[in-house]
Amino acid sequence: MSDAKPVSLLAVCGSLRKGSFNRAAMNTAIELKPAGMTVTVADIAQIPLYDEDVRAQGFPPPVETLRQQIKAADALLFACPEYNYSMSGVLKNAIDWASRPPEQPFAGKPVAMISAAAGMAGGARAQLHLRQSCVFLDMHPLNKPEVLIFQAQNKFDDSGKLTDETARNLIRDLMANLLGWARQIGARA
Ligand SMILES: Cc1cc2nc3c(=O)[nH]c(=O)nc-3n(C[C@H](O)[C@H](O)[C@H](O)COP(=O)(O)O)c2cc1C
Repeated sequence: MSDAKPVSLLAVCGSLRKGSFNRAAMNTAIELKPAGMTVTVADIAQIPLYDEDVRAQGFPPPVETLRQQIKAADALLFACPEYNYSMSGVLKNAIDWASRPPEQPFAGKPVAMISAAAGMAGGARAQLHLRQSCVFLDMHPLNKPEVLIFQAQNKFDDSGKLTDETARNLIRDLMANLLGWARQIGARA
């Protein structure tokens, strides 16, 4: 048994719909997380569309909450839908809001990402765009394993349980890697 401090994870889902496969995948990641990790799930549903004029008057409360949650987290997990070969506007909008100065809270954070998509690429193109944003915001995304749940409509049962064993094993491995990655990066900080 390890007496290392638990790694706190903030999980962010880029789909708002109740039956979201990405949310179901995120819930699977939470279910399969290793010992030594605690999880908070962000609520980005109330974040308004980005408007610099609004920001000039201060962050809206849901944005301030998200910024504080990111700041407090040791690591981040993004569940990243693919919309038109990119990440969903909902996710990008939340990242854009949270990223604004002062002290953008993403810098230095270890990150893992998972996607579930209807197409055969499983959200690969969306994750590449998310990785670009991670570079600019100085996050440290894990490279492997890639979790790309393709034809997601065939991989979950009616209760939202991920039934595909390969995907479940990849998510388990990703979460274990994220714990190690967060400890490595935390030790350097
Ligand atoms: C606006 C829009 C664009 C989409 N574009 C893609 C796409 O580029 N690639 C893909 O695989 N699926 C695409 N889809 C289908 C989504 O993968 C599918 O709706 C998926 O279930 C969305 O994630 P969710 O279940 O978490 O809401 C698109 C869906 C929407 C609504």
